[in-house]
Amino acid sequence: MWTKETLKEIIQQKLGGYKFIVVSNREPYSHEYSGKKISCVPSVSGLTIALNPVMQACDGTWVAHGSGDADKTVVDKQNKIRVPPENPAYTLKRVWLTKQEENGYYYGYANQALWPMSHIVYHMPVFLPDHWEYYKKVNQKFAQAILEEIGDEKAFVWLQDYHLTLCAKYIKEKRPDVIVALFWHIPWPNPEAFRICPQKKEIMEGLLSNDLLGFHIPYHCHNFLSAAEIELESKVDWEESAITYKDHKTIIQSFPISIDADGIANMAGGDEVTKRTPLIAHEIDPPYEILAVSIDRVDYTKGILQKIQAVDRFLDKHPQYKEKFVFIQIGALSRMHIKAYKQLIDDVQALAEEVNWKHQSGAWYPIVITNKKLDYTTHLAYYRTADICIVGSLHDGMNLVAKEYLMADADNKGILILSRFAGAARELKEAILVNPYDPDGVADAIKQAIEMNPVEKTERLNKMKETIRENNIYFWAGNFIEKLVKL
Ligand code: G6P
Repeated sequence: MWTKETLKEIIQQKLGGYKFIVVSNREPYSHEYSGKKISCVPSVSGLTIALNPVMQACDGTWVAHGSGDADKTVVDKQNKIRVPPENPAYTLKRVWLTKQEENGYYYGYANQALWPMSHIVYHMPVFLPDHWEYYKKVNQKFAQAILEEIGDEKAFVWLQDYHLTLCAKYIKEKRPDVIVALFWHIPWPNPEAFRICPQKKEIMEGLLSNDLLGFHIPYHCHNFLSAAEIELESKVDWEESAITYKDHKTIIQSFPISIDADGIANMAGGDEVTKRTPLIAHEIDPPYEILAVSIDRVDYTKGILQKIQAVDRFLDKHPQYKEKFVFIQIGALSRMHIKAYKQLIDDVQALAEEVNWKHQSGAWYPIVITNKKLDYTTHLAYYRTADICIVGSLHDGMNLVAKEYLMADADNKGILILSRFAGAARELKEAILVNPYDPDGVADAIKQAIEMNPVEKTERLNKMKETIRENNIYFWAGNFIEKLVKL
């Protein structure tokens, strides 16, 4: 079983003498003003929750966009600060972006072009030349900050996600000896979906400047190898899973990401969450006997509307659960400057109101929507309270909420309904797997979850918890680094 300590040893043994630098757009902690006071707020994004324990074990530098309103106030001259504040374990180095850069690179090219193109959920990607220019500029800015951090030393740079596709190229142009790898946290689309991208050649060239390229599942690797074969004059070795382009070889491999399984289980079973858990029932307005929960970033890929439709169908088909069943959708707001995201909030609200109006009886109504910012303790308390967790992604690289819910279930009473189109479905086979586009099927899954006998429930839960424990985040990071070292 991989632990924080095993990972630490591997890093020391194999990467001793190398600077260890992780890079992502989103920072793990932001500093925010509340009145005149400054507080350090941990990010709740899946990517940062997964990588934070890795960095705490390895003590390297994490380079990320400084997006908090007090971020500049607290850093030193090199834009650095040690985090987490209560027990500093690694260095966070912040990169500053202007509003125009953030708009073009993050809200524009990353989230209106690459995000919808990669997820294929019938949401048209928009490729604006202006966004692309800012995307390139910001990738250069990140590369510059990374090179500054490396100085004259040897380094291993681990880039994260679709925001940074060009970084490896800019780094290697200046320092070809630096080892650079990238992990792609979202799906890689099939060649038909990718071929529409006007900047596909530059993106492929950027990604093929990495020495190792990781995806969650073999299917995404396969899609990437096919894209290289179709779009570039490159040599694709399917057996070795490698692409040689302009004399540089990149290994393509799947590494299903995970969570700090025992860390989350301990936290969920610990005093703070145990005290917080009984309060949750009082905070949910309608009375209930059975509670289903979903926690998502409010995003059109997460299938939020489809889940509400499925609850509606469930109550039509099984009216005996009226006045008993409540579904709470907790949404973290992000990317709100993008029209499609604002629109989604309105659509979710309108649909929930309609379904509640249709089924409401006395004080009871079936759907609660909340977009309040919740801390991680409260997330875990919701997981512990819920009898069912529904992960309804229309398409998802992995989905760590599924894994978090199971590990947080200290009372061994929960059941997971999981979309077949989330990467997690490949590992969590004992969940109730559903097609989120099929409201009838999801409605039946809700009934199955409620009526499942406790012995079967415990068996399924234990198997899934075991899987997550074995393939935890330290295993993921350790595997990635060992592969890189072998190269
Ligand atoms: C999810 C995706 C990540 C992505 C992140 C960005 O967690 O799985 O691949 O990096 O969202 O979210 P943000 O709020 O930073 O745009």
